[in-house]
Amino acid sequence: MTDSVRTIAIDGPAGSGKSSVSKEVARRLGYGYLDTGAAYRGLAWHALEHGIDTSDSSAVLDVVGDFDYAISLDPDDYWVRVGSTDVTEAIREPRVADAVSGVARVPAVRASVTALFRALVAASTRAAVVVEGRDITTVVAPDAPVRILLTAAPEVRAVRRSKEVATQDAAAVAAALHKRDASDAKVVDFLTAAPGVTVVDSTDLDFEETVEAVLAVVRAGLDEP
Ligand code: DC
Repeated sequence: MTDSVRTIAIDGPAGSGKSSVSKEVARRLGYGYLDTGAAYRGLAWHALEHGIDTSDSSAVLDVVGDFDYAISLDPDDYWVRVGSTDVTEAIREPRVADAVSGVARVPAVRASVTALFRALVAASTRAAVVVEGRDITTVVAPDAPVRILLTAAPEVRAVRRSKEVATQDAAAVAAALHKRDASDAKVVDFLTAAPGVTVVDSTDLDFEETVEAVLAVVRAGLDEP
């Protein structure tokens, strides 16, 4: 990463509150916010638009070359584009969620997307960027001054996720979450903290308390009051 724009690296599993907490922390500190999962989702969307079978790595690689991706780093104005199409909503569709692991497991995809993340942070006009994902503390920004693993007990994550997707069927949501954790964990280990990474466990914290806990780690890491 660059010396001038500092990175606040936050990793965590689905349903940990990572995205909403990271965005709010960025907002309160006047920092940029980078959702890295959106790039993998954007590429999965792009591959599906080309009729690609996303379990076929070489077919996925064929469409990486013309993947024209743009994302806002403004926590108050979040959007994602592929070419001239705004895909902010489309990348949340279940068909994209189902395809994204196939895309994210291709090493050449990860290398190319990692380079893109570093370039986006380096180009930011803000003092720091909160970068959230699965491998930020370990691969994308292992030298970041602040590195956090945001966790929560699986049953709590399932309850939060079922509220987000407006369904009462917590058992089905828990099963889907478990399946996704297992497939994502084959690509990067985001369930255990790497050395030097601070764990924030949000199991017993509400949203505001989680934001405060993360802010405290950020301030301590940046040596700011
Ligand atoms: O955080 P998310 O649900 O939007 O992530 C979408 C997918 O991308 C998920 O399968 C994990 C993967 N991902 C990854 O492999 N590395 C990252 N830094 C971010 C996300």
